[in-house]
Amino acid sequence: MARKEASADLRELPLTAMANAIFVLNGPNLNLLGTREPEVYGTETLEDLKARCDRKAHALGFVVDFRQSNNEGELVNWIQEARTDASGLIVNAGAFTHTSIAMLDALLACTVPVVEVHLSNIFTREPFRHRSYVSKAAKGVICGFGGLGYELAIEALAAAISRAKAG
Ligand code: DQA
Repeated sequence: MARKEASADLRELPLTAMANAIFVLNGPNLNLLGTREPEVYGTETLEDLKARCDRKAHALGFVVDFRQSNNEGELVNWIQEARTDASGLIVNAGAFTHTSIAMLDALLACTVPVVEVHLSNIFTREPFRHRSYVSKAAKGVICGFGGLGYELAIEALAAAISRAKAG
């Protein structure tokens, strides 16, 4: 195929398919970050977290597709989308972490590496937060470091993706 034709085709692809895309999926109530229990979750907003992720991913040669939903079904659909459109997945499932077998099943069907993130240290909190359905499908878990955890997750994921590519 001629070079000119190839670049025209590429322009029609969605942003995520054009580059090394990392999906960052956020679950219920994370849209309220900044004002929601700041003593637990800090004062950074979801927009601030997105900016952190964009910066970190860009520095490592990746692009981030950053999303949030309060709806379990939508999160399941996005995880399924990641099977074809992402090279890695970061999930902060919020309260669905502790309840959602549907999200676990979707993640288990996902062949790309998954990193689970929580802003707070779920193990120092109420007992019902100590169990995570997401963890079974995750390569690793980062919790307790606030927004920095998202950057650490991108770093870990980028390393895992590079390792997998190198064979
Ligand atoms: C959270 C921890 C969950 O237990 C809680 O339901 C959340 C946020 C975190 O990022 O610390 O919504 O996932």
